[in-house]
Amino acid sequence: KNDALSVDERLQSICDLLQNTVPSYDWVGFYFKNGDKDELKLGPYTGEPTDHTIIPFGKGICGQVAVSNKNFVVPDVSAQDNYIACSITVKAEIVVPLFVNGQNIGQIDIDSNTPDPFTEEDERFLEFVNAQVAAML
Ligand code: SME
Repeated sequence: KNDALSVDERLQSICDLLQNTVPSYDWVGFYFKNGDKDELKLGPYTGEPTDHTIIPFGKGICGQVAVSNKNFVVPDVSAQDNYIACSITVKAEIVVPLFVNGQNIGQIDIDSNTPDPFTEEDERFLEFVNAQVAAML
């Protein structure tokens, strides 16, 4: 019998664990490049459902990370003009790209209802999480 977890089930578990364990992580999800299109598609996530299941490259914090290949830490979302609001309760966001063989294939996106909660420790931690995910894909 095949009782191995699928990739999506594993990603869902990671989202659930992070959201349940870290008090400032209120919404945790993965976006991935959608085939050969210049857009991101929402994968597994934990938190409020979002309308933004497809995000064009360049749009919002997520779309900017898809083209910059760099972490994007937003202490105050209201100070960003290229920002896509998913919920009015969100105060801050962090997006860390996910690399497989040096290619930016997606990202982990975390929203917080707490203002300015993210530190370099979060960046290093989420880079580690993404490296583990990359090794499993
Ligand atoms: N705020 C993101 C959109 C995704 S939601 O946070 C889930 C952005 O500006 O790209």
